Amino acid sequence: MSVHSEIKRVTTSTLKELKSKGQKIACLTAYDYSMARLVDASGIELILVGDSASNVMAGHETTLPITLDQMIYHAQSVVRAVKRALVVVDLPFGSYQGNSEEALRSAIRIMKESGAHAVKLEGGEEIKESIVRILSAGIPVMGHLGLTPQSIYKFGTYSVRAKEEEEAMLLKSNAKLLTELGCFAVVLEKIPGKLAQEVTDSIDIPTVGIGAGAGCDGQILVVHDMLGINQNFSPRFLRRYADLYGVMINAFTEYIKNVKEGDFPNEKESY
Ligand code: KIV
Repeated sequence: MSVHSEIKRVTTSTLKELKSKGQKIACLTAYDYSMARLVDASGIELILVGDSASNVMAGHETTLPITLDQMIYHAQSVVRAVKRALVVVDLPFGSYQGNSEEALRSAIRIMKESGAHAVKLEGGEEIKESIVRILSAGIPVMGHLGLTPQSIYKFGTYSVRAKEEEEAMLLKSNAKLLTELGCFAVVLEKIPGKLAQEVTDSIDIPTVGIGAGAGCDGQILVVHDMLGINQNFSPRFLRRYADLYGVMINAFTEYIKNVKEGDFPNEKESY
């Protein structure tokens, strides 16, 4: 974050301030330079370089295969594009669960090699030591509770989490713990709206929901999903703001037709 920048950058304090004023926080993912430029220019507050890159950029079925080096590559591209938003990067599966020393090393690599502003980790009590260690190095941490896709093989499905009292209680105590440890915000993924509202009201750091109802302090969507690039993913929580699948297929087929028919390039398009 350049102190000489003319544009007022979004910081973790900005997000807290928005919560305290009751103003909503808009967040999206991005993984590459061109998309991040568009998202940032639109006035988004937070850009997450999510490990969903594993799905939407690399075509993997889960978020598990993406590596720390690959996340750093995506984060570098995004950071080069962003002038205003806070850039948060996911610590990928396997880069922090082993022990807190490894977690700190991974977080430091992301911050040093990409220039991002914060990291996100999935989990609560079980990764407490790692969070403490990363925070003590001065690296802002965003939490992630509810459906945590890195644990998909433990859950077995991508269905709504914490519907039962026991899991809801655990989620509430983990949200409190993340707040006490010093996380600056927490993602709540795919949990009942009522529970997300209760958590939001009970902690003083912003909650950012995805499939967690309107009661969260902010919302996040995967940019490819909200743009309608991927037609095969349509969970109930997803609102499509464009049909880029249709727009792009039309453009590509029109181009192919023009090339085949010798209509492209025309004289004006030639030297
Ligand atoms: O990786 C990701 O895109 C995420 C969001 C769904 C919150 O973690």
